[in-house]
Amino acid sequence: MAQKQLIIGLFGFGVVGEGLYKVLQQTPSLKASIKKVCIKHPGKKRNAPVDLFTTDKDSILNDPEINVVVEVIDDSNAAFQIVSTALRNGKAVVSASKKMIAEHIQELLDLQKDTHQPFLYEAAACASIPVIRNLEEYYDNDLLHSIKAIVNGSTNFILTKMFEEKLDFKQALILAQQLGFAESNPSLDVEGYDAVNKWSFLLTHAYGAIVHPGEVVFTGIQHIQAGDAVVAREKNYQIKLVAQAQKLLNGKVAAFVLPQFVKPEDHLSFVKNEYNGVVIESGFADKQFFYGKGAGSFPTASAVLSDISALRYEYRYEYKKLYHHTPLELTADFHVKAYVSFDEWKHIPKEEFNWIEEWHAESERKYLIGVLPFSLLQQRTWWKENNVSLILAPDPIIEDVEVRQLKKKSLELAGII
Ligand SMILES: NC(=O)c1ccc[n+]([C@@H]2O[C@H](COP(=O)([O-])OP(=O)(O)OC[C@H]3O[C@@H](n4cnc5c(N)ncnc54)[C@H](OP(=O)(O)O)[C@@H]3O)[C@@H](O)[C@H]2O)c1
Repeated sequence: MAQKQLIIGLFGFGVVGEGLYKVLQQTPSLKASIKKVCIKHPGKKRNAPVDLFTTDKDSILNDPEINVVVEVIDDSNAAFQIVSTALRNGKAVVSASKKMIAEHIQELLDLQKDTHQPFLYEAAACASIPVIRNLEEYYDNDLLHSIKAIVNGSTNFILTKMFEEKLDFKQALILAQQLGFAESNPSLDVEGYDAVNKWSFLLTHAYGAIVHPGEVVFTGIQHIQAGDAVVAREKNYQIKLVAQAQKLLNGKVAAFVLPQFVKPEDHLSFVKNEYNGVVIESGFADKQFFYGKGAGSFPTASAVLSDISALRYEYRYEYKKLYHHTPLELTADFHVKAYVSFDEWKHIPKEEFNWIEEWHAESERKYLIGVLPFSLLQQRTWWKENNVSLILAPDPIIEDVEVRQLKKKSLELAGII
């Protein structure tokens, strides 16, 4: 079959855009060439010929010769305008803009249906790890039991340094910024927004659920204290910011992005520094582990390149779990086991816990480990206020049917009944 010649209009020439430009120069066999690059600031010095650049987006969007638009800019509103116009103008689109995709997933699904154009975005989640295409193509809805992942490299870097070099949160953040693993304004990463953005559209590919990031319970690592790392170390755990989803017995999906204690035998404990990792548990295959760089110029450009390459054979996401299966819904009808550290008891609604298994109240910083309904985490904010730090226990999800049995067992162990 003759290979389709791809003529690319590129939006953005920053970390990812310039990386793609270089990577494409090293892969002539791909039969893909960049005709024009649209950027924002024409005065900047670029490592590419001057006549390649423009600030006029229409010179790409209205060019009939350009059949692929690659959008890698850092402005999600402008990105959505560019992507939607390109699709409507009959162009295939590749993007890495996770915030834009998370915020507009329903409109982007509609646009793909209406225009019959492919829209690929493997680089938007876990960069170099091919997680979207695997979820799309390999795992049937019925077989995908659970997926959990470290999807944000900056927070993983900070947690690794807090843990291994015993730095406190601020010192670890400064180091991450010095080494280029965290932005000068790190709140998008540190407070969990970046992770929940990626998680929301990964849930579409995993289970067919269409969720706005605001509907997923999440926080980042901003409340984690050096003392939490001490407790974790005593228990032989690490702390990770884990995005998790699991199919429950009621056929619905439990999903969240929260800090979590991770056991040494958990594959995610292997994921250190700026790396990402994904563990998928499926019906008969048991666990599979994907590991790789979740950011950076070439790792991200490699995923964009792979999408461009896939366009040659007319690849597109079919959203099988959404259109060909019964899409699954998220639920809050389950319980979680969590560790909570805090300065004062008055900030902790003890009555909301089903039971408390362990507590240490003597020192200045106190903590407890208990089980509570997830719906109360969804409704309340005490667990992210007043210097309270909440970290889920390993294997934190407890189904409703298990709660009574486990409560009895834990009260027996505590000698209460
Ligand atoms: N960096 C990573 O490791 C990584 C990984 C995965 C996904 N992503 C995503 O990829 C996208 C790009 O990230 P990046 O790190 O490459 O960003 P970046 O280094 O900040 O570069 C952004 C580029 O976008 C251009 N730009 C901004 N607004 C524009 C507009 N309205 N029209 C045309 N060009 C515009 C800028 O132009 P000027 O050069 O003129 O300022 C710049 O070239 C983001 O959505 C990011 O979330 C990044």
